Amino acid sequence: TLKASIVLLPGDGIGPEITQQAKRVLETIGEIFGHEFTYQSHLIGGIAIDETGDPLPEETVQACRHSDAILLGAVGGPKWDDPSAKTRPEAGLLKIRKELGLFANLRPIKLFDQLIDASPLRREIIEGTDILFLRELTGGIYFGESSRSGSGVDETASQAMVYSVGEVERIVRLAAQAAKGRDNRLTSVDKANVLEPSRLWRQAAARVMAEEFPEVQYDVVLVDAMAMHLINRPSDFDVVVTGNMFGDILTDEASMLPGSLGMLPSASLGSDGPGLYEPIHGSAPDIAGKGIANPLATILAAAMLLRHSLNAEPEAVAIETAVGDVLAAGLRTADIARGGPSVSTEAMGDAVVNQLKQ
Ligand code: NAD
Ligand code: IPM
Ligand code: MN
Repeated sequence: TLKASIVLLPGDGIGPEITQQAKRVLETIGEIFGHEFTYQSHLIGGIAIDETGDPLPEETVQACRHSDAILLGAVGGPKWDDPSAKTRPEAGLLKIRKELGLFANLRPIKLFDQLIDASPLRREIIEGTDILFLRELTGGIYFGESSRSGSGVDETASQAMVYSVGEVERIVRLAAQAAKGRDNRLTSVDKANVLEPSRLWRQAAARVMAEEFPEVQYDVVLVDAMAMHLINRPSDFDVVVTGNMFGDILTDEASMLPGSLGMLPSASLGSDGPGLYEPIHGSAPDIAGKGIANPLATILAAAMLLRHSLNAEPEAVAIETAVGDVLAAGLRTADIARGGPSVSTEAMGDAVVNQLKQ
């Protein structure tokens, strides 16, 4: 019997709808395997701004610190999008990542065979695709110093992209270790032909690979070319490591390989303490409240939570298998239905729960 206290951060838009389904799946796992999971919900994002004025109230940070793992929905939306507002929902997400030291963001791009025809790309291109992205999550341009000055046409804004050797080394090490447990290949993506921090990244990564992982097959690709290779020959990549912003952009692009942003989970891990698990997509304001969002990314994030924070591999596999089974049975939310018949968020949650109980 495992005991775990799980913090839920539903957030905004479709966040509460999808988190609810993932919670039901975790509850079902708890029942089947005899685990004692407790859940408490806390505020983050726009709803936290509305209720407390702060996108990440201190109470939420404390609850996260004292938990075993965190499951997050999504934050943000048009209500809080005013560029001159003094804070934003997204600031809460960046801050919790930083406060908990979650420097490694694992974003697996795994095809479900059952969905191969839901991809906008042809079967022969995507077949065999299985990529693990490691996105650096607490450094780079996201956290660089920013400033605004001047006025009129002379008003300027800047944001620094900063990486230290230590920051590069620790994410590259994790990526190389992950590669050893997979197909033993690692690709580092940067923009070293233009950006100084990318040159530092490339040198530090090469050193780690040569000194500590000579047995791992290693190469480097420029980010613009990578955007193309992902569409042209996705099945050639194994583990891909990159910086914060490149990883953000490339993984939304890569989400189209399995067919939808609504399918992709992620895990954000530090060197100790609780991990944070979330879908890679956002709050989807265009479909929020309609009950049609795909909950599978968040349900698969719950599987990653079991695997990485609770060391519960069979439980994680049970969820992933159940998801494959409901897809095989033909269930589709609108985003993966490609115009065919579709079911609601809740019906998809029901189906996974029922499949687990069989
Ligand atoms: P988005 O990911 O919310 O949505 C992009 C498109 O994908 C939309 O058409 C949406 O309907 C669709 N989509 C996303 N998730 C889906 C799901 N589960 N099922 C079906 N369709 C889904 O990106 P956006 O519209 O650019 O951003 C909206 C807001 O979300 C912004 O405020 C942004 O900052 C925020 N955001 C938050 C996170 C996060 O909390 N981790 C991630 C990305 C974006
Ligand atoms: C993501 C999101 C976030 C990011 C935003 C909402 C801060 O796009 O998790 O991919 O850019 O990291
Ligand atoms: Mn993103």
